[in-house]
Amino acid sequence: MLGILTQDLSFTLFNQHFGEHYHNLRDGALKETLHKHIYPSFAYSSYKDSLKVLDICFGLGYNTFALISYAKERGYKGVLEIHSPEIDRGLLLSLESYKYPKSLDKQILKKLITQQYYEEEKLKVFLHLGEAREILTHLKGDFDIVFQDAFSPKKNKMLWTYEYFKRLFEMTSEDCIITTYSQNSSMLYGAFLAGFIPYLLRQKEVRDSIVFTKIVNPCIAIANVLGIVAVDIPHKISLNKNLKALYDEEINEKSKQ
Ligand SMILES: C[S@@+](CC[C@H](N)C(=O)[O-])C[C@H]1O[C@@H](n2cnc3c(N)ncnc32)[C@H](O)[C@@H]1O
Repeated sequence: MLGILTQDLSFTLFNQHFGEHYHNLRDGALKETLHKHIYPSFAYSSYKDSLKVLDICFGLGYNTFALISYAKERGYKGVLEIHSPEIDRGLLLSLESYKYPKSLDKQILKKLITQQYYEEEKLKVFLHLGEAREILTHLKGDFDIVFQDAFSPKKNKMLWTYEYFKRLFEMTSEDCIITTYSQNSSMLYGAFLAGFIPYLLRQKEVRDSIVFTKIVNPCIAIANVLGIVAVDIPHKISLNKNLKALYDEEINEKSKQ
């Protein structure tokens, strides 16, 4: 099957329930994956002997496959351990029929779907079938990289709340990096209140995106390769007095109505 062709000719899909595509059509699925998630996180973390990665969520697997391929291409010698929750079993079962970009190693897909686990020398991949928030309560830290790639904060709220970011804060290392495509102000505020510092990532190839770290001015490694600008949250709040973080309670309240 072909799926939906994006700007760089890699395919994506459309999710009827959330009413959104899995990738940005104009940036291109593969290009978005590489520029917003893989390049910045790898530039920041690849000096480490091992990398523990949380991919929220697996979707078509671009982030997971692209990280594995890129780490191999760059001759990364450390141990790579990837954990990715995914709630949509039907989606996973359909993935084998799609034609992935050649640069992505899709070989592990079959094993992941049948066994939810794949292992080779210095690589372990865990596909966690189920609801991500529930899965995060069982996963043990310290994660070095988080690909925060759920559907948008407006549609997929429970994976962008203050409490959700608090949990990410507990399970990540001091020198972790979180990458995301979203620049939603309520999401940024919630993540900031949870302890993360947001930076805007500017690149010519794709639209601006965000990286979070826990330490101020940490991004020398990224800044050497990519342009980053600190996001001034107190300034954002001063410009918009109504700005509020997203909280679990509000979602729960709304779902009761
Ligand atoms: C934007 S897509 C992820 C794209 C993916 N990172 C990729 O590289 O192809 C978002 C994914 O999150 C999954 N998802 C949404 N809410 C979830 C939840 N609460 N728990 C687990 N998975 C969830 C959706 O089924 C979808 O596959």
